[in-house]
Amino acid sequence: MSRKKGRTQLPQVMLARFEEMGLDLDQFVPALLSYPTPSFRINPLKGEQESVLESLSVIEPEPVGWNRLVFRANPGEVKLGNLLEHFLGQIYVQDTSSTIPVTVLDPQPGEEILDMAAAPGSKTTQIAAAMDNKGLLLANEVSAKRTASLTGNLDRCGVINAVVTNQPGQVYGHLAPERFDRILLDAPCSSEGTLSRNLRGLDIWSENSIKRLAKLQGNLILSAYYSLRPGGLMVYSTCTFAPEENEGTVTRLLEKFPDAVIEPIELQGINGRPGFPEWRDKTFHPSARNILRLFPHEHDGEGFCIAKIRKPSSTVTETAKPDKRLPSKHRPGRGDAKPIEKEETGIVKKTLASLEERFGIRPESFEDFHLFIRKNDVWCSTQEAGEVQFPRITRRGLRIARAFEHSVRFTTNAVQLFGHLVTRNRIELDEQKTRLFLAGKTQDVEQPQDASDGFVAAFNSDCALGIGLLKEGKLKSQVPRSRRVIG
Ligand SMILES: C[S@@+](CC[C@H](N)C(=O)[O-])C[C@H]1O[C@@H](n2cnc3c(N)ncnc32)[C@H](O)[C@@H]1O
Repeated sequence: MSRKKGRTQLPQVMLARFEEMGLDLDQFVPALLSYPTPSFRINPLKGEQESVLESLSVIEPEPVGWNRLVFRANPGEVKLGNLLEHFLGQIYVQDTSSTIPVTVLDPQPGEEILDMAAAPGSKTTQIAAAMDNKGLLLANEVSAKRTASLTGNLDRCGVINAVVTNQPGQVYGHLAPERFDRILLDAPCSSEGTLSRNLRGLDIWSENSIKRLAKLQGNLILSAYYSLRPGGLMVYSTCTFAPEENEGTVTRLLEKFPDAVIEPIELQGINGRPGFPEWRDKTFHPSARNILRLFPHEHDGEGFCIAKIRKPSSTVTETAKPDKRLPSKHRPGRGDAKPIEKEETGIVKKTLASLEERFGIRPESFEDFHLFIRKNDVWCSTQEAGEVQFPRITRRGLRIARAFEHSVRFTTNAVQLFGHLVTRNRIELDEQKTRLFLAGKTQDVEQPQDASDGFVAAFNSDCALGIGLLKEGKLKSQVPRSRRVIG
């Protein structure tokens, strides 16, 4: 842990609340304001666990116990986000506590899963990996601005089973009743547990904002519950300690649906506490005790609260009422599904032929996927993600190529995912040249005998880095600006 800070930085009202929660402020506050040990999650969609761990041995990865893909590390001065493995999407830098909700959700390949409040996508990418990129992952985020970070992470992690929608989570209860096998609601919250990395959160923290958020969470949790199939599992999580936003929100669900089951969370390597029985004048539902609470002076990670909720029976007799406060465009029947893509087999065929000619990728390699055109680009998704229709879909799958009048360009995101299929026009780069390539530079290279001028796939020790343009011994990196790594 580092960056010790004192309680003078926190508002008195907040400190008084923490004391009321029974916390020892001398231990709790310094831990809350210190960075937890750096940690990361391996993304098996992009790398084989053993070889990723081997290449990261210098940062001494230590397994956490509850999830075989999550590790604490000792990176010293090195930023995990600057590592080659991060650029390649083989690792995702994620706080250990933040990896627990999806571990509890336990997504399975081929299921239909809703991530109701998804940006920036730490948990969406974790769900996609657990699903082995199969089935349908609906990643919803209300904020169009925050969606950019979500799609950037989906790209880097090579996710092709996700469909992104941009709407308030409150609509799903009536838009998709009893549809999903599993749902994650990682709710907007007062974020008290992440103050070590974001003290600016204090600017908008107040007891009033806690009340406002609790109301929003109440509507979101009901919407999620309506949208869960009978027998399905949902996880409700927040990165805050406020009981109103945790036991309070779960109690609201149980008051409406008394047969909802809050299951105990049993995971190894976690030092957590049970949910609070009461707060001020409110007594919570007894099963809210099964909430897992994480405090940073007891668990080396950020503050979190997690509830595991099973839906034993149908709610179809109950009609999920559209939230009247939502703008009318988000009410049912409005903004109905209009496909943003078209099937235009001509361009798809041309793209596949071009990928075969230039890179030796056999067209049959894409047989199991859904390929479609959006504007002039070719995208690839699972069949399930390709077919589903919902209002306000902003993206599905991964863009694999851009088709121009006379040429087709494979994307860096796609070559990283399908690099193992590339048999022609490969160029191997050493460590130094790899750094320049990642920074988006043009550099002199020795032209391999079997590579001709034009687009080539750059590799470092068999890991596909991205696309470059080779011309007369110079290689111009085509790594998109948003993915470049400087330093
Ligand atoms: C805690 S963050 C989610 C973090 C994300 N699950 C992750 O792990 O990267 C909560 C998100 O909910 C979004 N949000 C706020 N109100 C929402 C609503 N009514 N419906 C859906 N998302 C909402 C916020 O914009 C924010 O991105």
